[in-house]
Amino acid sequence: MDTEANGEGGSLVLIKQGAEARVFESTFAGRKSVVKERFSKKYRHPTLDSKLTLKRLNAEARCMTKARRLGVSTPVLYAVDPVSHSLTFEYVEGQSIKDIFLEFGLQGVVEEKMDDIALQIGDTIGKLHDGGVVHGDLTTSNMLWRSESNQLVLIDFGLSFVSTLPEDKAVDLYVLERALLSMHSSCGNAMDKVLAAYRKSSKQWSSTFNKLGQGVEV
Ligand SMILES: Nc1ncnc2c1ncn2[C@@H]1O[C@H](COP(=O)(O)OP(=O)(O)OP(=O)(O)O)[C@@H](O)[C@H]1O
Ligand SMILES: [Mg+2]
Repeated sequence: MDTEANGEGGSLVLIKQGAEARVFESTFAGRKSVVKERFSKKYRHPTLDSKLTLKRLNAEARCMTKARRLGVSTPVLYAVDPVSHSLTFEYVEGQSIKDIFLEFGLQGVVEEKMDDIALQIGDTIGKLHDGGVVHGDLTTSNMLWRSESNQLVLIDFGLSFVSTLPEDKAVDLYVLERALLSMHSSCGNAMDKVLAAYRKSSKQWSSTFNKLGQGVEV
C-alpha cells in the first residue's frame, strides 16, 4: 500500500491515482479525512502549470462551497492548501453510486433503493443548476451514498463552473445519461426517474429539457 506522511504526523493512504490528482485517506484534527492533491503536468511551463493548478483548486473549493450553500449535500471542506495544491475533506462513509448500481447489475435491482437514489440524484442536480452551478463531471463515481443516513453526497467539483445557460445544464444531464447507459444498462429506466425528480426540483427544467431534447453538442 502506498503511504506518505502528512503535515500533522498522520499517514496518507492512496485511494486513487488519477490523471490530474491523487486522492488519499488521512486524518484531520483527529477525524478521518480525504486529501485531494493536484500534481503538476510536466509538459506544461512551470509558471503556467502552477497558475492553472491553483485556478482549478480554487474553482473546486468555491463550487463545492457554493453547492453546499444551495442545500446540496457535499463533504465538509476542512482545508485548502495552495502550497501543496491540496484540498482536505470530510471522509464520507459509504459506497459510490457506481458500486451500488454495479451490484444491482449482478444481484438484481433493489427497486426501493433505486427509486430513492434516482430521486435524490435528480433533486440534487436540480438544486445545483437552479443555483447556477454546473457540475461538469456527473458520473456515478462522483456520487457517494452516505450509509448512516441513506443520503446522496456529490463529490469531485474539479470540473465545475458557474453558469445559468440551459445548454450547459443540458450537457451535465447528458453526461449522466451516457454514464448510466454505458455503465449501468441493467438499471433500466434510472435516467427517467432522475429526470422526473429534476423536473420537480428545478424551476428552470423546461428550458434545460428543451436543449437536452435538441441533442446537446459535447
Ligand atoms: N470525501 C470523500 N469521502 C470518501 N471517499 C471519497 C471522498 N472524496 C473522494 N473519494 C473517493 O476518491 C475517488 C476520487 O475522488 P475524486 O472523484 O474527487 O477525484 P478524481 O476523480 O481523481 O478527480 P478529477 O476528476 O478532478 O481528476 C472517488 O471516486 C471516491 O471513491
Ligand atoms: Mg472523480
